[in-house]
Amino acid sequence: MPHAYSTLTGPRSASVRSGQAQPHERLPEVLARHREAPWRAPVPGHTAAAFEQVCRLLRAGESDRLVLDSGCGSGVSSRLFGEQLPGHVVIGIDRSAARLQRCGAHASARRQGNCIWVRAELAAFWRLAGRAGWRLRRHYLLYPNPWPKARHLRRRWHAHPVFPDLLRLGGRLEMRCNWRVYADEFAAAVGLLTGLPIQPERLCIDRPCSPHERKYLASGHALYAVVAELGGAAAVA
Ligand SMILES: C[S@@+](CC[C@H](N)C(=O)[O-])C[C@H]1O[C@@H](n2cnc3c(N)ncnc32)[C@H](O)[C@@H]1O
Repeated sequence: MPHAYSTLTGPRSASVRSGQAQPHERLPEVLARHREAPWRAPVPGHTAAAFEQVCRLLRAGESDRLVLDSGCGSGVSSRLFGEQLPGHVVIGIDRSAARLQRCGAHASARRQGNCIWVRAELAAFWRLAGRAGWRLRRHYLLYPNPWPKARHLRRRWHAHPVFPDLLRLGGRLEMRCNWRVYADEFAAAVGLLTGLPIQPERLCIDRPCSPHERKYLASGHALYAVVAELGGAAAVA
């Protein structure tokens, strides 16, 4: 099957630059606090409306065959996963109207075949999905913003208060990034909250699945994946 990004030409990108060379020493303490005090921030109205739109686009029996492509950008990877996973429904979520315009989902959620794209805030969307009882088959988090400054640790998804909710969505969780420290921290955070022995792996691929993966590959960056089999209902400690 032709691949959306089968060539490695295109814009080059600088590597992540950070004063932080190791996993943040405060990560365990931050996670312990999130575990003790579940996140209760109000859900923004626009994301609640977006979640309802997605629920209306789902057909009978599909809610137990869900795949999330969280932070899908322009939605290229969601389309690819939709082709690779017939019988599943892939939901691409991003907050950027400009990026979602490329798949026609900037104004409201859009469905094409087994793909749905929607504009929403990820943290709120994940919480709504949890409240609705969703248990995912797969969850992709491709090239999340790295927030490389050490003082921004809590903006990284694995140190954000929503992280226990994300893990409870279950399924095969795969995070990819081009910064070793982020991969190490993400793996450590999954391990601390679930007890699973998770290690980051070096990705060796020549067929990128998203625009950022394509750009980073073309720029010669080392790429990392953290994969966790969380099952139907992740046991988050
Ligand atoms: C570095 S880009 C990666 C895009 C795509 N996954 C790829 O690999 O090409 C990160 C994406 O996450 C989205 N994003 C970041 N924080 C978000 C949030 N809180 N809610 C929704 N989307 C978010 C951004 O709009 C952006 O499209």
